[in-house]
Amino acid sequence: MPLHIDILTLFPRMLDGFLAESILGKGVESGLLSVKVHNLRDWTTDKHKTADDRPFGGGAGMVLKPEPVFAAIEQLQKPGCRRIYLTPDGVPLSPGLAEELSHQQHLILLSGHYEGIDQRIRDQVIDQEISIGDYVLTNGTLAAAVVIDALARFIPGVLGEEKSLTSESFTSKLLDFPQYTRPAEFRGMSVPEVLLSGHHGEIEKWRLARRIEKTRQVRPDLLEKNQHEPDHQRNHRPSAQ
Ligand code: ADE
Repeated sequence: MPLHIDILTLFPRMLDGFLAESILGKGVESGLLSVKVHNLRDWTTDKHKTADDRPFGGGAGMVLKPEPVFAAIEQLQKPGCRRIYLTPDGVPLSPGLAEELSHQQHLILLSGHYEGIDQRIRDQVIDQEISIGDYVLTNGTLAAAVVIDALARFIPGVLGEEKSLTSESFTSKLLDFPQYTRPAEFRGMSVPEVLLSGHHGEIEKWRLARRIEKTRQVRPDLLEKNQHEPDHQRNHRPSAQ
């Protein structure tokens, strides 16, 4: 059964382009995964379609109300579904977590907004909270798109060509090597000789060396992490089944 993803957001049109374009759009078209965007306001019951309200205890901003979110999740959830809330105070998205999500059958991605959401939502109808990085977006809708984009590459067929995508391997935690295409000479800059040599073994050696060099310069923390645990053992709570 292909993975089905329901996205709950107050800004559904933010995802129009994302779902229509790109490799992901092709995956959706060919039925390798299905994604449905829902407007949370469809589950409001008052004339003004009120989805948020002022926080108890005071403070700036508005808080997403529990009623429409509970109603939406209760209507959409299927047995075994994983209900995820996108929030900067969630566990960080990692390749291991993205791969694990790609193996699920049904995900509900809830986008929060501005100052946050009523805590009772998080306590009762959310299984996992995910952050895409240590910065605060105006709402979680783009974060939901990032999660989908990151997991899509682990669904066989979505990327077109089948690649080895194991997230635990040593090499997957290195940054990428530099790529070149024609022309071999451009404005006085030439492509490294080894890449033109046709010598496969030498090319592989060169690429690995560049990856280690780049990782050491930009993300030395990744080299340290390699010595410890595989990626999939970090950063997520077990799913509530
Ligand atoms: N919502 C707002 N900022 C976010 C972030 N960094 N990750 C996930 N959801 C968010």
